[in-house]
Amino acid sequence: MNEIQNKILKLKKEKNALILAHYYQTIDIQEVADFVGDSFELAKIAQKAEEPLIVLCGVRFMAESAKILNPDKKVLLPNKDAGCLMADMITPSDVIKMKEEHPDAAVMCYVNSTSETKTHCDICCTSSSAVKIAKALKEKEIIFIPDRNLGSFVAEQVPEKEFYFYRGFCPIHNVVRDEEVASARKKYPDALVLVHPECNKAVRDAADYVGSTSGIIKYVQESPCKEFIIGTEIGVVERINKYLEGKIAYLLSTHLSCVNMKKTKIGDVLNALTNEEENIELDQEIMNKARFTLERMVNIK
Ligand code: 13P
Ligand code: SF4
Repeated sequence: MNEIQNKILKLKKEKNALILAHYYQTIDIQEVADFVGDSFELAKIAQKAEEPLIVLCGVRFMAESAKILNPDKKVLLPNKDAGCLMADMITPSDVIKMKEEHPDAAVMCYVNSTSETKTHCDICCTSSSAVKIAKALKEKEIIFIPDRNLGSFVAEQVPEKEFYFYRGFCPIHNVVRDEEVASARKKYPDALVLVHPECNKAVRDAADYVGSTSGIIKYVQESPCKEFIIGTEIGVVERINKYLEGKIAYLLSTHLSCVNMKKTKIGDVLNALTNEEENIELDQEIMNKARFTLERMVNIK
């Protein structure tokens, strides 16, 4: 641990804070976190947290979800500019329009969305829970927003339902091409290809496994194979190479670094804990409405 990390650990103890980090954060941040996980796991842990202060190292929708699920706690986003490009692609009026076009459909909202967008939806989902949630909904029609790639992945797994998609996408995952899968396989012939469902269909079809960040890490842990080509953000590759002994991960594409996830630096985490300034504050009505959709997601059996 370096000097900044030690200061963070000391302050964390003094203030009884909980540090949560997404897998896309840099390793120095992952090292000081109490828990590192995918967006579903972070939401669940934040909901149950007893500490008065939660530092969410990730992007804004993750910190807002933590605040909405556990509103009595102070939630800090260490870098206030860490947004999610996909979350900003859809507005509430886009959702309202889709609902008018498909009045019998349930609206499933990927958590990578703003809190306001969530208030117009019936249930949230993450990449690890989306298939299960789509199957569990009683409605036969589903409006899936905002990610058309995750949406089409879910639709493939739930053929008994009819889906309507919005045109959103993750600019980081969406630009990976299936030709990159082919050339990575040539370079690393013994490696398996594991990709995130935010990748486009051609890439997903060319992969050996499609899953959330936690799903990918679990797959690597449990697989008898040694080498993996990873089609998600570089933080996952770094984590596998650092913590999973005997496993080697290669990044599928040089595009796979999320500029927003990388905005948070270890110094921001220390500043956040010291000054408690990057505090998430949301309109009460938005929080109450969005909570319904997030609680349905985390509570679904
Ligand atoms: P996970 O739900 O797999 O953690 O993914 C979040 C995300 O932002 C992927 O780009
Ligand atoms: Fe958003 Fe894409 Fe970054 Fe995930 S990788 S936080 S979807 S911009």
